[in-house]
Amino acid sequence: MHKICVIEGDGIGKEVVPATIQVLEATGLPFEFVYAEAGDEVYKRTGKALPEETIETALDCDAVLFGAAGETAADVIVKLRHILDTYANIRPVKAYKGVKCLRPDIDYVIVRENTEGLYKGIEAEIDEGITIATRVITEKACERIFRFAFNLARERKKMGKEGKVTCAHKANVLKLTDGLFKKIFYKVAEEYDDIKAEDYYIDAMNMYIITKPQVFDVVVTSNLFGDILSDGAAGTVGGLGLAPSANIGDEHGLFEPVHGSAPDIAGKKIANPTATILSAVLMLRYLGEYEAADKVEKALEEVLALGLTTPDLGGNLNTFEMAEEVAKRVREE
Ligand code: NAI
Ligand code: MG
Repeated sequence: MHKICVIEGDGIGKEVVPATIQVLEATGLPFEFVYAEAGDEVYKRTGKALPEETIETALDCDAVLFGAAGETAADVIVKLRHILDTYANIRPVKAYKGVKCLRPDIDYVIVRENTEGLYKGIEAEIDEGITIATRVITEKACERIFRFAFNLARERKKMGKEGKVTCAHKANVLKLTDGLFKKIFYKVAEEYDDIKAEDYYIDAMNMYIITKPQVFDVVVTSNLFGDILSDGAAGTVGGLGLAPSANIGDEHGLFEPVHGSAPDIAGKKIANPTATILSAVLMLRYLGEYEAADKVEKALEEVLALGLTTPDLGGNLNTFEMAEEVAKRVREE
């Protein structure tokens, strides 16, 4: 039995998550879904965006499936990632047939350090009109994120990928913090002589994900750089409606679409469920359900290729109809 903490949250979270549950149920696997609340709505009602019971449920379950929060996102999702100590934020960037992409052969994964960097939240106003933020890079966090990236490259190599990790940083300017980041990268790389290691400056990297995205396999970077790079990368393979993510630590896993609550389309049942379904695919792999994960991904690939999609991709199905097309194929397999 897999016990899953389900947090729909706000806006389109209430549509894309139930649609994804439809697909998960079609796998026939034994799931227990435990529903918990977080986000703007529960904040308005109770004064707490991330209630204590939700934290307890998240800690107690085998994995968390999260939709989106609205304005309270920082208090909900950033906090949850910290509480669960999910230090690796995994964002696959993959071109699917039937989706407008920069190139058909894009298939890499961005691994973003999730616990420190400029998002540590250490800010101060040191004088009137003068504010500062502290960028934290530690050897310990570097080591574990780089090991994670190299292990992932090893896994992908088994499935026919190149076996390469690219580190993106700005060590020429941030001499101390990214100096350490780069140094530890090559130190960890020595333990993986079957995997290639290379590094680029983050600004150049930002160009390369557009000019030569097909050459990347696993890309590892710090928190803020990864946040920016991964939204840009999502744009090269169809946009936010298709971008999944996994937050992984040694004890917990939290899976969520990259997009937010999309108030502009919420309640209309036109949100694309793909990002959340793909996040569920990552969750299935995390739970060791590789066969079911492949089944769902293959079904989704087929649905996208046939154009059986929501309006953002040019189709005329609603969120639940699109998910049902996927679920149907999973059941039939
Ligand atoms: P957003 O991701 O919600 O929306 C950006 C644009 O993409 C909108 O035009 C939206 O309609 C479209 N879009 C997003 N997901 C889509 C989907 N599945 N299918 C079709 N179109 C989709 O980002 P935005 O507008 O910057 O923020 C809206 C709210 O979401 C804010 O309150 C923000 O704080 C919150 N947010 C929450 C996040 C989270 O919970 N992890 C992440 C990002 C934003
Ligand atoms: Mg972001």
